[in-house]
Amino acid sequence: MMNMLKDTIPVLLSTFALAILVIHAQDQSGFISLDCGSPEDTRYTEATTGINYISDEAYTQTGVSRTVLPEFRTNMQRQVVYVRSFPEGERNCYNLTLRKGDRYLIRASFMYGNYDQRNEIPEFDLYLGPSLWDTVILPNASPDTSWELIHTLQSKYLHICLVNTGKGTPFISALELRLLKNTTYTSGSMAFLQRLDLCSTGTRVFRFGQDIYDRAWWPYQTTDWAQVATSANIVNGLNDYQPPLLAMRSACIPANASQPFTFPINSTDPNAQYYFYMHFAEIQVLEANQSREFNIYINQTFMAGPYSPTNLSAETFYSTSAFGAGLISLVRTANSTLPPILNAIELYTVKEFLRLQTVDTEVDAILNIKSMYGLKKNWQGDPCTPQDFLWEGLNCTYDDSSSARIVSLNLSSSGLTGGIPLYIQNLTRLEYLDLSNNSLTGPVPDFLSRLQSLTLLNLNDNSLNGSVPAELVERSRNGLALSVEGNSNLCAKASCVKKKKKNTVIPVVASVVSVAFLVTVVAILWRIRKRKSLGMNE
Ligand SMILES: *[C@@H]1O[C@H](CO)[C@@H](O)[C@H](O)[C@H]1NC(C)=O
Ligand SMILES: *[C@@H]1O[C@H](CO)[C@@H](O)[C@H](O)[C@H]1NC(C)=O
Ligand SMILES: *[C@@H]1O[C@H](CO)[C@@H](O)[C@H](O)[C@H]1NC(C)=O
Ligand SMILES: *[C@@H]1O[C@H](CO)[C@@H](O)[C@H](O)[C@H]1NC(C)=O
Ligand SMILES: *[C@@H]1O[C@H](CO)[C@@H](O)[C@H](O)[C@H]1NC(C)=O
Ligand SMILES: *[C@@H]1O[C@H](CO)[C@@H](O)[C@H](O)[C@H]1NC(C)=O
Ligand SMILES: *[C@@H]1O[C@H](CO)[C@@H](O)[C@H](O)[C@H]1NC(C)=O
Ligand SMILES: *[C@@H]1O[C@H](CO)[C@@H](O)[C@H](O)[C@H]1NC(C)=O
Ligand SMILES: *[C@@H]1O[C@H](CO)[C@@H](O)[C@H](O)[C@H]1NC(C)=O
Ligand SMILES: *[C@@H]1O[C@H](CO)[C@@H](O)[C@H](O)[C@H]1NC(C)=O
Ligand SMILES: *[C@@H]1O[C@H](CO)[C@@H](O)[C@H](O)[C@H]1NC(C)=O
Ligand SMILES: *[C@@H]1O[C@H](CO)[C@@H](O)[C@H](O)[C@H]1NC(C)=O
Repeated sequence: MMNMLKDTIPVLLSTFALAILVIHAQDQSGFISLDCGSPEDTRYTEATTGINYISDEAYTQTGVSRTVLPEFRTNMQRQVVYVRSFPEGERNCYNLTLRKGDRYLIRASFMYGNYDQRNEIPEFDLYLGPSLWDTVILPNASPDTSWELIHTLQSKYLHICLVNTGKGTPFISALELRLLKNTTYTSGSMAFLQRLDLCSTGTRVFRFGQDIYDRAWWPYQTTDWAQVATSANIVNGLNDYQPPLLAMRSACIPANASQPFTFPINSTDPNAQYYFYMHFAEIQVLEANQSREFNIYINQTFMAGPYSPTNLSAETFYSTSAFGAGLISLVRTANSTLPPILNAIELYTVKEFLRLQTVDTEVDAILNIKSMYGLKKNWQGDPCTPQDFLWEGLNCTYDDSSSARIVSLNLSSSGLTGGIPLYIQNLTRLEYLDLSNNSLTGPVPDFLSRLQSLTLLNLNDNSLNGSVPAELVERSRNGLALSVEGNSNLCAKASCVKKKKKNTVIPVVASVVSVAFLVTVVAILWRIRKRKSLGMNE
């Protein structure tokens, strides 16, 4: 576990008490900023960051609102005051409907602040969809601590879940999403490790207001490095990474100009893989007889070069594939009169998330069914995954590593009223459909006979009318266990339905082989804990 930020952020409070963060008016489109646990109509602009927060109420169905104790509120950003706590249920989820393929920075923040007056910091698991993201272990009751991912959506549904592991009640302070350009970062998932403003002119963490994507940057310097800085403007040009001006205006060079510039990727996990993003700009005024040119290595392996940073223009060098831990070095070429330079760097670890999720059309269908019948079921997260949290009344098949399908829907004795919804036709792999003992009205729809996999259809004890479609009757002669008893207005004459209702229970053992769960996913046990003392401005 790495907690470099705690050790490397200089303690700054007193000397910078007068510095006021400049908040530029910046576009917040693509931002979702939830103040978790705050009242339903909450809507405000946080004073120190300029970020617009709203209540999380619309994004989760469970949990209770609590506030941290007053002594934890001093000098903290407003979004940490309320928390949402989840005393009920093993797993509770946030549900966001976004656009498949979009890439987000996702940040979950936690500040305990003794909100439950038990003085026991809980420990619990954080899930992204069906996959474990990390275990939330908070070092202190304050300040807030964040977990951050860059993640490309595999589905339009994004579920962020908190799982109670028996070590206290899960809670959350804030959930933030920032839409990134799809030309930046990687198409998979990666967890934040470090984002450093090297040889910074400031001493505090900064984020939105300076960074249009609300990435948080930490000042960082070692005694091996010397600072160079400029007050000139630095353009981003076509660089979609858009590193913030504040991070680019300063840079480190080796303190000994004849030495290479080295930066270690610190690792405690020999299996961890890393992505890095280095942001360069020439910020010194070069004389005609001066030049800066260097090559980039990891360990002794040449990666890129020779490279000369561009005068006052930010350029980003990144690894297109992941690397093991090692030493990044920038080594000046024989021609170069100046030592290498590095303005800012970001490091991430690869996260291998299970791609497995229920196919979107089936999620849509089941959610529509839920909303049409006003079902009060504790259906959260993905319907089928993870298998441990399969929605009650559903059963699924997992035929490949990317998608799960609903094979069984049992809504018997659920107080359903109204007709049999067309949405069911999109559950194309349905084998069992049990809608018995409800108050369903209207006809038995034709589309049921087009559900090719259906082997059991139980419509007993409803108020359906009309006649049973001929195709269904036909299928019931060929193995479909069809039951329509107890619908007084449904034509049950021999010409409509064969009297086959006695053997409604045909035990069919579906051989659902959960291929997906045979796929070994290398869980990266590397835990990243990031102290984000964003509340330390004053
Ligand atoms: C990236 O986004 C643009 C516009 O939002 C879209 O046209 C393009 O197809 C996307 N590319 C990828 C690889 O997703
Ligand atoms: C700088 O590095 C060079 C080459 O490694 C070395 O010879 C020299 O002693 C170093 N200077 C200082 C001041 O450390
Ligand atoms: C890497 O680890 C070393 C030794 O623990 C530490 O001195 C150094 O600051 C770390 N570097 C970074 C960039 O975190
Ligand atoms: C760098 O750019 C600035 C502003 O465009 C310009 O004034 C300066 O002459 C340039 N320096 C070099 C070395 O090209
Ligand atoms: C570059 O030129 C300046 C004078 O313009 C001179 O003082 C300096 O020594 C030269 N530097 C190198 C590395 O030649
Ligand atoms: C770099 O060297 C270290 C130490 O020899 C090694 O453990 C590591 O795997 C190397 N990294 C790469 C990317 O080659
Ligand atoms: C050094 O610079 C000269 C002139 O710009 C160039 O011809 C030569 O290839 C360079 N050598 C190296 C090793 O980059
Ligand atoms: C997720 O949110 C959407 C829209 O806010 C809602 O229609 C849907 O029912 C929610 N899904 C779950 C599983 O709660
Ligand atoms: C549906 O659930 C009820 C109890 O909730 C159970 O009796 C019935 O057998 C189930 N139907 C199927 C098809 O599994
Ligand atoms: C039918 O549903 C009602 C509630 O809707 C329930 O009380 C009753 O026990 C159910 N009957 C059977 C046989 O499951
Ligand atoms: C079924 O799914 C398709 C998309 O595959 C969608 O266009 C259609 O509206 C859905 N039908 C129902 C009844 O939900
Ligand atoms: C789901 O299907 C599997 C395989 O047919 C079966 O073993 C399991 O009991 C079913 N689960 C439920 C909740 O019906």
